[in-house]
Amino acid sequence: PPLNLEQMIYEQNTNLQVFAREIIATATPTPEELAAQNQHLKKCRAICRRICPEGELVPFGSLVTGFAITKSDLDAVLTSPYPEDLFSTPNKIDESNSLPQNLAKEFQSEGFEATLLLKTRVPILKLALKATDESSFDLNCDIGFNNDLGVHNTRMLQTYSRCDPRVREMVLFIKWWAKRRHINSPYRGTLSSYGYVLMIIHFLINVVDPPVLINLQNTPIPEDVPPDQIFDEGGEGEHQIWYAKDIENLPKTANQMHVGQLLHSFFEYYSYKFQWGREVISIRTQGGIFSKQEKGWVAAVIRPGRSGHTQIKDRYLFTIEDPFETSHNVGRTCNPPGVDRIRAEFKRAVSIIRFRDGGKSMRELLCQE
Ligand code: CTP
Ligand code: MG
Repeated sequence: PPLNLEQMIYEQNTNLQVFAREIIATATPTPEELAAQNQHLKKCRAICRRICPEGELVPFGSLVTGFAITKSDLDAVLTSPYPEDLFSTPNKIDESNSLPQNLAKEFQSEGFEATLLLKTRVPILKLALKATDESSFDLNCDIGFNNDLGVHNTRMLQTYSRCDPRVREMVLFIKWWAKRRHINSPYRGTLSSYGYVLMIIHFLINVVDPPVLINLQNTPIPEDVPPDQIFDEGGEGEHQIWYAKDIENLPKTANQMHVGQLLHSFFEYYSYKFQWGREVISIRTQGGIFSKQEKGWVAAVIRPGRSGHTQIKDRYLFTIEDPFETSHNVGRTCNPPGVDRIRAEFKRAVSIIRFRDGGKSMRELLCQE
């Protein structure tokens, strides 16, 4: 019998919910894998300490937020109590006796594959280690230098995740989908996982009705908060890093939607409602949206990178404002074909979810490699 619209959507969402549960279970790393990542981290710490005894290797990113899917990279940052000593002149980082170079050599002598990336926003040491008898899991680790903001924004994402279990579920599903559809490669013209997480948080605060999340950066700052917890002297000036952390005292959400409903609506929003050409996602802002005009994010600019001769192209095709470093466009990595592919993937997802065959094509196609 023909279904009315409401019944049809109900059926689509239920199919998606069942499918999402399976994907989330597949995507979640096993306890063994997480334990191996922690072992790897310990080993990297010990090696870093040999070269930089005053520094500390601090993990951030998905291993800390709980947004790791199986085979995720490990993100860590080497912090030092003496940042000026480490990088007195940032454009000397690629000189052969700089700390990153020395670290790279030390890791290589320990059997790691080590590559120093200098064209990125912050220098990154990329490490890889194949599984051995000691650990049956490969290691892929990115080490950054003096990037405290990454540690702060990781903690805020973790706080959002603690507010509602659906945050993590949506993130795991979307990361899995984006990886399988090859639209999660910031080095190759598409968007980082961090960018997808910000898209999800914007959706859960500002789009879905009633909201699943409260804007943690847009609540009044209590008077007893010390100034160093409000502002941070980051790499490129001062940043407000305060956000509400006492989530037990925040009002609970009235939203009862399941993850299938939320994902369907998420795909629809970015397919048909969000104005990719005109709008900037800004999760710290009331309403979550700026216009590119207001933000002055219109024409691409080329600026020098940290090491003098490298150049960074700031593109504004897809714009997501970093919640702390507000001059940074997290979508900067997206080039024209990359944005087109991302947008096409959102529309493809909607059409697959809407196709009426009991969810058969959805399981086959939605996350097809
Ligand atoms: N980050 C950032 N600015 C970016 C990209 C990333 O500050 N433009 C920081 C964020 O703190 C983020 C962390 O780097 O939490 C890791 O980013 P990413 O690797 O994209 O996200 P993960 O959740 O670690 O995803 P994956 O499992 O794909 O590594
Ligand atoms: Mg990562």
